[in-house]
Amino acid sequence: MGNFRIQDVDLVALAKEYGTPLYVYDAEKIVHQLRTLKTAFSGSEVKIKYAAKALTNLSILKLLRAYGSDVDVVSIEEAQLALRAGFKPAQIMFTPSGVDFDEIVEGVKLHLTVNLDNLSVLEKFGQKYQGTYPCSIRLNPHIMAGGNYKISTGHSNSKFGISIFQLPDIHDLVKRHNLRINGLHIHTGSDITESEVFLKMADILFGVARDFPHLRFLDFGSGFKVAYKDGDMVTNVYDLGLKLSKVFNEFCQSYGRKLELHFEPGKFIVSEAGTLLVKVNVVKSTPSLTFVGVNSGLNHLLRPMMYDAWHDIVNISNPTGSLKLYTIVGYICETDTFGSDRKLHEVREGDILAIKNAGAYGYSMSSNYNSRLRPAEVLLMNGQPKLIREREKFEDLLKNQIELEI
Ligand code: LLP
Repeated sequence: MGNFRIQDVDLVALAKEYGTPLYVYDAEKIVHQLRTLKTAFSGSEVKIKYAAKALTNLSILKLLRAYGSDVDVVSIEEAQLALRAGFKPAQIMFTPSGVDFDEIVEGVKLHLTVNLDNLSVLEKFGQKYQGTYPCSIRLNPHIMAGGNYKISTGHSNSKFGISIFQLPDIHDLVKRHNLRINGLHIHTGSDITESEVFLKMADILFGVARDFPHLRFLDFGSGFKVAYKDGDMVTNVYDLGLKLSKVFNEFCQSYGRKLELHFEPGKFIVSEAGTLLVKVNVVKSTPSLTFVGVNSGLNHLLRPMMYDAWHDIVNISNPTGSLKLYTIVGYICETDTFGSDRKLHEVREGDILAIKNAGAYGYSMSSNYNSRLRPAEVLLMNGQPKLIREREKFEDLLKNQIELEI
């Protein structure tokens, strides 16, 4: 028996019951993270809009809705999932980037809060709706922030947002089409540790906001960093909450009315709540290394290969074995390393490893590469495992394929 438990559920037993690879999510942790943010920013009218892209399982969306979260979506499909999970259109922030204008029209039809990030789109929106449907604007503040270049979105070479240097063009369009701008939005990136980045964004947003009289909210995006390993720097959301609420409330006073303070956290809410359980297929010693080959790969958890992201890996089925150095790899036919030179309790073929912090951008970025099936997902609620997505079957690979008679 292993000793790695979540909500007192033994994960080795869970792996036996549901099979591997298996995504396991801890509902208590998800709710705890949501509450932490609500408490940290309770000095202002805060709204948490969970960034659905991090983990879109319907039951996770429902859980977050039940505990008072709103939701942020980036595609009409994510919006449809959010509606299906019971979110009201008014709770859904739609921030698409580079989509066909028809998708934005679809968002309007669904009564979402629509957030636009391109002058040409704003122009089309103005021509179609004039002032009859409000929209918010995503700004590019020209701030470099975030854990790595691939997830930095607010710098001058980023495709996201309308540059703050193009504000005169925005005002021109607003005037010409009588646009009603109900919010301003900035999202500078993911894995931001410094409160100062958010305070700098605040300065920029406040400066711009004075010239938009119909605002209902200012949206600071997200990027709150959580710990992926011991000693990692994290965003101190309580410190940020105190500092930001103070300047935000002062701004609202000078603006003349209370605005809502919006955030769109993904990682902060679900990253630590997720664990990917995998089985050791092979232990392979070479003259230089000992590889542990598991029954998963970059097709199920892309982050290590895509961003060089660190995920802690624990051998949960041999917790008292002696510690040895291993390189943990997947079964995909190209290099897919989960972790190099990791100290694990002695690994034997058949052992179960837990890959931690797999809740955010794990399942949601998974694929069928190498024609492998996606894992099942289990949510732990009140100490009980609930299957929230079945493991894919071979038939799923055939679905939508049109087989020619050749
Ligand atoms: N709002 C917007 C407009 C975003 O683009 C994102 C993430 C978020 C909110 C949520 O950011 P978060 O709280 O999760 O940092 N796949 C990458 C992260 C990509 C983030 C994309 N946008 C990763 O696994 O690190």
